[in-house]
Amino acid sequence: MIDRRAVVTGLLACCVGPVRAQQADPLAGRFGGPFDLVASHGRRFTDRDFRGRFMLIYFGYTRCPDVCPVDLLTMSQALNLLGPDAERIQPLFITVDPARDTPELLADYVSSFHPRLLGLGGDDKAIADVVRAYKVHRVKYIPASDPTNYGVDHSSLAYLMGPDGQFRTIIPHGGTPERMAEIVRTYLAREAK
Ligand code: NI
Repeated sequence: MIDRRAVVTGLLACCVGPVRAQQADPLAGRFGGPFDLVASHGRRFTDRDFRGRFMLIYFGYTRCPDVCPVDLLTMSQALNLLGPDAERIQPLFITVDPARDTPELLADYVSSFHPRLLGLGGDDKAIADVVRAYKVHRVKYIPASDPTNYGVDHSSLAYLMGPDGQFRTIIPHGGTPERMAEIVRTYLAREAK
């Protein structure tokens, strides 16, 4: 059996480094695609609603014990470091656990990290579609003793998408807010306002 986590880690190990260079991005077109999701108060958002802005997208779930809170904090601090440039970016948190993460719960959760972070949920199919489009690793771990109290193992990456909705780069888990801000700033500088 193939260890999917190892595959994802390997993919990142081989591909994230060169993305920083000015050369054509070997990952362009490999990640991303249309989505049709729901925020609080039943507001629908598709990827097209964010054209003209960069999207900084993180996939996770509100009951995540450690990785999501750390990464969302890093992302929020990076946005703050970007100052007025952060206005060119729409940060999104898309749930990998739509059964428990309602749009209202997501809105409440993301508000504790950053005022501009938008939480998006949807039905199982809508989430499965966006998870597939972004090649997000997602595996449920269901304890026999308490099946409702499951965990979801998921990749911990921030995807930077351009104003055209196309993939720009991946920022992996574990970096500092300063580093994330620096990477994002590089991409902002390449494209006119
Ligand atoms: Ni998480």
